[in-house]
Amino acid sequence: MRKKIGIVTGGGDCPGLNAVIRAIVKAGSLYGWECLGIHGGFDGLLTPVQTVPLAVKDMDGLLIRGGTILGSANSGQFSAKTGLGELRQVPQKILNQAKTNFNALGLYALAVIGGDGTLTIAQQMFEMGFPVVGVPKTIDNDLDATQMTFGFDTAVACAVDALDRLHSTAQSHNRVMVLEVMGRYAGWIAAYAGLAGGADVILIPEIEFNYDAIQKKIKAREAEGKHFTIVIVAEGATLEGHGFVTTNKTGKNGEVRLGGIGHMVEMEIENRTKKETRCVVLGHLQRGGQPTQWDRQLCTRFGVHAFQMITKAQFGCMVALKKNGMMGPVTLMEAINKTRRVDPEGELVMTARALGISFGDETVPKSLTNI
Ligand code: F6P
Repeated sequence: MRKKIGIVTGGGDCPGLNAVIRAIVKAGSLYGWECLGIHGGFDGLLTPVQTVPLAVKDMDGLLIRGGTILGSANSGQFSAKTGLGELRQVPQKILNQAKTNFNALGLYALAVIGGDGTLTIAQQMFEMGFPVVGVPKTIDNDLDATQMTFGFDTAVACAVDALDRLHSTAQSHNRVMVLEVMGRYAGWIAAYAGLAGGADVILIPEIEFNYDAIQKKIKAREAEGKHFTIVIVAEGATLEGHGFVTTNKTGKNGEVRLGGIGHMVEMEIENRTKKETRCVVLGHLQRGGQPTQWDRQLCTRFGVHAFQMITKAQFGCMVALKKNGMMGPVTLMEAINKTRRVDPEGELVMTARALGISFGDETVPKSLTNI
């Protein structure tokens, strides 16, 4: 009998999920394995199970299609993350039911494609005997165990496109334009997009900001004859002495929703500088659409290596992009235990500072030794 792999996509969606599914199914099929898609995240393993057979013929067009053909969920019976560093155990009763159904479906292994919340659940499942292999997904790029998660590059491309567009309108009207981007508690999207899109001010969760510094930067630009300014702000950025700005709504998974910092920054800049200021919140546009070519190759490599790890029974592990640029396994424990955040003293930030980009703080680097 052919061995069967279950594939599940969990957490918020992002471009490239389908490309990973395609890679697992294609490689699996070539080596005589069957694949079964689990619908709607882990909840698809609960009674009544929701599954769909995945054959190579069903994979046409998936390399470039956004979203996930399997559906996803960051709420429901399996939600495990509620906030920064806060975890909730999935009830044993739920895990037992999923395990019974997993066995009844004749599955040999489960490929779990998700971010830290989903991989935290995968670790719990592994601990109770599920043969799981993880694939790191998230536009936030906040998993320490891999050099990059898939979806991030596409989100950055979307943010850069927005900055390019905002530049021309900002310049035409001599305005300050503020772009709020996602990323939760990490500033990767803002930092990379800010560099690639020529932002003048980058506000990230890793560096608290103050309005005096932002005002100073805008004034300095005015003095240079530059009457427009581009600000990119991560949703998790915080004003000195203040906490995260949230929508006051809590998601179904109990996790607080970040958002609103862009409009606060917009209003304060306008009040202080008297310059017309506008804010754009990029929101879920960053998670939609086709993956970039970088993400497509990354997803394909992740998928094939996840399959290879299954064939080697490397369970309780996640495929990762290593420092040497190669794919390799890391334990799920390593993957979920450390959030990767932008280093305020690191090369990325120092490079930006060397261009005169402000992080909304008073720091002027004494030297550029970190570059
Ligand atoms: O983790 C991915 C992410 O897009 C974050 O950047 C963002 O804060 C969150 O998910 C939004 O979640 P939701 O789709 O539930 O609003």
